[in-house]
Amino acid sequence: MNPSGSFGISTMRPCCRLLIGCRGSAFFGFLPPTCQHSLANNLSGFRYKLLQHRQLHSNSPRIFGFKCVANPDQRPFRSPDSNWGQSRVFSRCCNVGQDRGTSFIANVASDVRHHSTSIDSHVNDKSFEKIYIQGGIKVKPLVVERIERGVDEGKGQEQQEHVHPVETSEGLKETEISTHKREVTEIEKEAWKLLQNAVVNYCGSPIGTVAANDPADKMPLNYDQVFIRDFVPSALAFLLRGEGEIVRNFLLHTLQLQSWEKTVDCYSPGQGLMPASFKVRTVPLDGSTGTFEEVLDPDFGESAIGRVAPVDSGLWWIILLRAYGKITGDYALQERVDVQTGIKLILNLCLTDGFDMFPSLLVTDGSCMIDRRMGIHGHPLEIQALFYSALRCSREMLTVDDGSKNLVTAINNRLSALSFHIREYYWVDMKKINEIYRYKTEEYSTDAINKFNIYPDQIPSWLVEWIPEQGGYLIGNLQPAHMDFRFFTLGNLWSIVSSLGTPKQNEGILNLIEDKWDDLVGQMPLKICYPSLDYEEWRIITGGDPKNTPWSYHNGGSWPTLLWQFTLACIKMKRPELARKAITLAEERLSMDQWPEYYDTRNGRFIGKQSRLYQTWTIAGYLTSKMLLDNPEMASMLLMDEDYEVLQTCRCALSKTGRKKCSRGAAKAQILV
Ligand code: GLC
Repeated sequence: MNPSGSFGISTMRPCCRLLIGCRGSAFFGFLPPTCQHSLANNLSGFRYKLLQHRQLHSNSPRIFGFKCVANPDQRPFRSPDSNWGQSRVFSRCCNVGQDRGTSFIANVASDVRHHSTSIDSHVNDKSFEKIYIQGGIKVKPLVVERIERGVDEGKGQEQQEHVHPVETSEGLKETEISTHKREVTEIEKEAWKLLQNAVVNYCGSPIGTVAANDPADKMPLNYDQVFIRDFVPSALAFLLRGEGEIVRNFLLHTLQLQSWEKTVDCYSPGQGLMPASFKVRTVPLDGSTGTFEEVLDPDFGESAIGRVAPVDSGLWWIILLRAYGKITGDYALQERVDVQTGIKLILNLCLTDGFDMFPSLLVTDGSCMIDRRMGIHGHPLEIQALFYSALRCSREMLTVDDGSKNLVTAINNRLSALSFHIREYYWVDMKKINEIYRYKTEEYSTDAINKFNIYPDQIPSWLVEWIPEQGGYLIGNLQPAHMDFRFFTLGNLWSIVSSLGTPKQNEGILNLIEDKWDDLVGQMPLKICYPSLDYEEWRIITGGDPKNTPWSYHNGGSWPTLLWQFTLACIKMKRPELARKAITLAEERLSMDQWPEYYDTRNGRFIGKQSRLYQTWTIAGYLTSKMLLDNPEMASMLLMDEDYEVLQTCRCALSKTGRKKCSRGAAKAQILV
């Protein structure tokens, strides 16, 4: 717990106060007059759903306000005032063009979090949903922190010694790393400059990076927004060169967006959902002319093409939170009560029981990096790898107390079951394909060999030729009577990074990538998936999507951003030379081609048909890869080793009645392939 924190006020900058709660003057140093008024009227009635301190301007129908309400039975999160139309909320910040010192925001999410001192979850009755904030207004807020507090305060001495940003004549910071001094290349300098230009400010502080920053693009759609998943490589690039502020701001502001009441038509997705992206908008300040304020406008999928659910956002947020702590040494951030509650809300959403039979996470199509229909609904590998990773990161970060111990047990149980499930059923190599080829079907029993009733005919003809003698990979998806044999790069790489795969499997995946270099790397690293869906398959599975034609975009396109995950995986498996080879290849073209989002054709020769240029995660992925290679010891902070405890739990669970003695050795024998 951060000892300095006790009340709900955060400030971004002295000139731009951001109220993390608006509940009563006892809790806050100050309140805007209108807020004081509404609180005075409503607090006595126990209702405290909301707390918009000032009604927003009604000339923007998308802006939503919140009112203090007085129904103790309702969910203690705010809900939009239904008179105001569709739920669209902004987090407000500060005025632009007037004295910022007098502007405020009521950020209820964080305020509400301050009441959440425990998660009422019992592993056996699985009541994680009871995480809803307890205690109402009578609970004293526990945390107060100034968002502006720099990372340096909490930074470990050890880390400070690694990275020293230095100003160059161009005003750009170059990274001079004590362990590896080398000249920063012209391409890297250009990349840093572009990354810097992509930075988005909110109330005068950096808060993220736009997805793409092409000045010639007249139709940016939502590429001018900060995407959670896209920001991860930017965040790592900044962290690796000693700049933590932007990451800290990003983590805290997205946390505030997390609990927004959001609706898609009349339906509200779960409160732990993180947005896919957000935009900083400048809107007129109510009641005044010529003055404006900045607001955060999140998109939870309600505007996204296809209305896809950003399942991966929360998982990436947790992964980034851990990385931030590891690299900066500022562990106080993850210990904050609001941050702890944020983690729990995400886990709550992921661990809630449904109808599913598997420990893997059940999601709809397009719920991750591939955010269009591509036949990845069900249990796609990418989500499973991120889920596994986020569970491990959370277990490391959660403060264990009476309120969280059941959750931690649940995490451990899920980790064991998930890792067993993926290792056992997703893995394919020559031997396994041959087994599937000879599968018997329609086995009705608990000890069926072909548990998912896979018809051998499903083995695609390309795979028969493609599967190498050595190595293998984790398949894209597994459902009853369905194995998606496509190779999905991010899921496989993140399985290595997080140790979801066994050490032998992880080795096998890199062997396969090396063996199939022409297919998976070709002229531009790396294919998002292999192979593409063609002809009828493309028509039926993508719905005839003209953006996802064969070997384009998500359907077998090449995405240079995947370089950073590849580099991490190579470093972990002690094969940095593979990453170096891929980076060298990318370096030959990225700058010349204006940093495209993706490349098309079977071997990645052409810039993608509809590819954005100056795509930030292409730029950041490249920079992060370079820095990781230069500083493998930093990379190791992002990697996770085999977790024998998880294996042991799994071994115990597998022996069902516990008749067999559980031992670490037995666990290894059982799960390690
Ligand atoms: C595309 C990608 C998605 C990315 C977004 C912004 O929609 O599919 O993964 O987050 O662009 O770059």
